[in-house]
Amino acid sequence: MAGNTRFVRTRERMTMGIDAIASFNAESTAEEVTEGLDLTGKRYLITGCNSGLGYETARVLALRGAFIVGAARTEEKAKRALEELGIEGRPVACELSDLTSVRACVQAVKSDAQPLDGIIANAGIMALPENKQKHGIELQFFTNHVGHFVLVTGLLDLLADDGRVVILSSGAHFSAERGLELDNLSGEHEYHSWRMYGRSKLANILFARGLAKRFEGTNRTANSLHPGVIQTNLTRHMSEDVLGPMMKGLKLKSVGQGAATQCLVATHPGLSDVSGCYFSDCQVADTLKEGKDDNLAEELWKRTEEIVASIA
Ligand SMILES: NC(=O)c1ccc[n+]([C@@H]2O[C@H](COP(=O)([O-])OP(=O)(O)OC[C@H]3O[C@@H](n4cnc5c(N)ncnc54)[C@H](OP(=O)(O)O)[C@@H]3O)[C@@H](O)[C@H]2O)c1
Repeated sequence: MAGNTRFVRTRERMTMGIDAIASFNAESTAEEVTEGLDLTGKRYLITGCNSGLGYETARVLALRGAFIVGAARTEEKAKRALEELGIEGRPVACELSDLTSVRACVQAVKSDAQPLDGIIANAGIMALPENKQKHGIELQFFTNHVGHFVLVTGLLDLLADDGRVVILSSGAHFSAERGLELDNLSGEHEYHSWRMYGRSKLANILFARGLAKRFEGTNRTANSLHPGVIQTNLTRHMSEDVLGPMMKGLKLKSVGQGAATQCLVATHPGLSDVSGCYFSDCQVADTLKEGKDDNLAEELWKRTEEIVASIA
């Protein structure tokens, strides 16, 4: 946990928070970690609400009474997901690789003028076999990090005073063996699908850390997490030849277990003062050394702002 506790507001509150979630683990489900919670009147925005972990997160938070702002690549997809789930919610289009769409999403959500109790940056793509780019930036980095950066920073005005930002990272960030590779954002210098996915997930951790720093002195929190390994549509870009051997021997979680950590971090009352941390299996966990590097988090923030400013 070293290096992860820096933004936890007081040691006493940290201990209380960590104690409060001590009984949860890799087997806990999203329903279990939210059991007994009444989220009536709370509003959560979830990206990627139409599939996998985002879909389950929407289902369970709504089950606890929350109103869901469900974001998907198109409004139709978001609408269909909310309808299928039979939950009260606001569908909204947010194609993360298109900043016009992300900015329109920010405006649409802002036009509702309703505070958000949480933003769950859940959507993502993984292991694109070839280097694809958007605005000259490698697509996994653009979608997973840059798109969410624009969405989340655009919505901060709407985040409740005690609102939480929860960012889906991955244990695959350990594959970012060359760190953020800020000199290879195009992916052209050498593309490796898994390393580039890992790099985007390292960026997710550092974005949460940068946000947590900006939230210091407030009651808002920002954390990132690894959900576990869950069979979802995330592997759609991987061939069976690659996927088969990789999955061999891995202990898979159910979708309910996979969505547990994000539901816990977004809602558990015990975590109201825990910020700047990385979670895995419903507990605070350690990251790659670069995931605790505040200077790198600031460098990433600045670089991302420059990228965003260059895209009209
Ligand atoms: N599953 C795992 O084992 C695992 C492990 C570690 C981390 N994670 C992380 O968990 C998160 C959720 O993944 P999942 O397993 O639930 O995968 P999933 O079932 O594939 O869901 C991913 C969601 O992201 C959306 N998405 C993809 N590209 C997008 C874009 N350009 N703009 C907007 N939305 C986009 C997808 O929309 P469409 O359906 O329309 O494409 C889908 O709703 C991801 O951030 C992933 O990196 C998952």
